[in-house]
Amino acid sequence: MTEDKTKTDELKALVDMLSIEDREELDALFAKAREVRADVSGDIVYLRGLVELSNICVKDCFYCGIRTGNAELERYQLRFLDVLNACRWAEEWRFGSVVLQAGERQDKVFVDWVERLVSGIREQSEGRLRITLAVGEQSRDVYQRWIEAGAERYLLRVETSNPDLYQKLHPVDHSFDTRVRCLRDLKELGYQVGTGVMIGLPGQTLEDLARDILFFKEIDADMIGMGPYLYHGKTPMGEQHGEPDPDRQLALGLKMLAATRIHLGNVNLAATTALEALVPNGKELGIYAGANVVMPNLTETCYRGAYCLYDGKPGTESNATQSLEHLSLEIEKAGCEIGWDAWGDAPHFAVRMKEGAVQK
Ligand code: 5AD
Repeated sequence: MTEDKTKTDELKALVDMLSIEDREELDALFAKAREVRADVSGDIVYLRGLVELSNICVKDCFYCGIRTGNAELERYQLRFLDVLNACRWAEEWRFGSVVLQAGERQDKVFVDWVERLVSGIREQSEGRLRITLAVGEQSRDVYQRWIEAGAERYLLRVETSNPDLYQKLHPVDHSFDTRVRCLRDLKELGYQVGTGVMIGLPGQTLEDLARDILFFKEIDADMIGMGPYLYHGKTPMGEQHGEPDPDRQLALGLKMLAATRIHLGNVNLAATTALEALVPNGKELGIYAGANVVMPNLTETCYRGAYCLYDGKPGTESNATQSLEHLSLEIEKAGCEIGWDAWGDAPHFAVRMKEGAVQK
């Protein structure tokens, strides 16, 4: 079979999955995704403590509430020691991993600060916590410095694998090619790499979404973090397109999770907060559709409202303990167990390392 034919067949199979509307067929799709997950990593869900470092951002993405053009938003940056304390809390609660997320900045002050945070956390935890960064597009040198400081994973969503759609979602100086270049740099430097997309964007077709899953495979991602596109009233896209239908967004989000699990098998797949913005048990449903990672928010309550990527972000009134309690219940309801004290690397990463070693 030629490669093209294989790709066309895969694309068709994925579009078919994403087109399912019938309740029984949907249940079968989710059951299949759970079966694949159980085969690759058992019914274990891993925790990543999420710390939202800062909502200061130089980017101006048309969909995002913390875009630089949103002048109404009060900006914040956490204090160094508060970040370290949040990570200590994560360790005490037997998390194996933390994610440091922030709006994008490339200036020296920011790059140095992130580097010091990473080495500070590594020292404090004596290497017990896996550190993931999600702080946007950077030069290869900066990625290199941060991995040397002790970051082992990086999340950078491609947002959509369709370059034309990407351009419609961003100002002209935001480039799809740069995004892909960053993902390739991260891979080459040895990070465990996560990417993802927004699901149900205006103008996005089911074929686009199916191609997103093929993109994840092609870029050989270890982790996928994706969620439904959500309305934010103070963004150009919110103003232009209004609120998308929440039922459709939820259904599509869950189908994407299941289809990705079925197609990619051994990756780590997150049940993201955007699902929970649509329905209170969104993360439970995400796990039920094949996800195996959740990210309880550890950010101090007073800052949570300001990290508002979209309207109706859940958990802004809660503290870290409440966020964890809520999630523990969701995990249990979805029939899974928490992987306490575990790094929870994607099996895909181990396979990649083994293959790399063989090739060398
Ligand atoms: N709806 C859903 N997800 C969003 N993000 C930003 N704005 C929105 C929105 N309106 C996601 C993007 C980005 C991540 C930080 O948050 O995928 O990469």
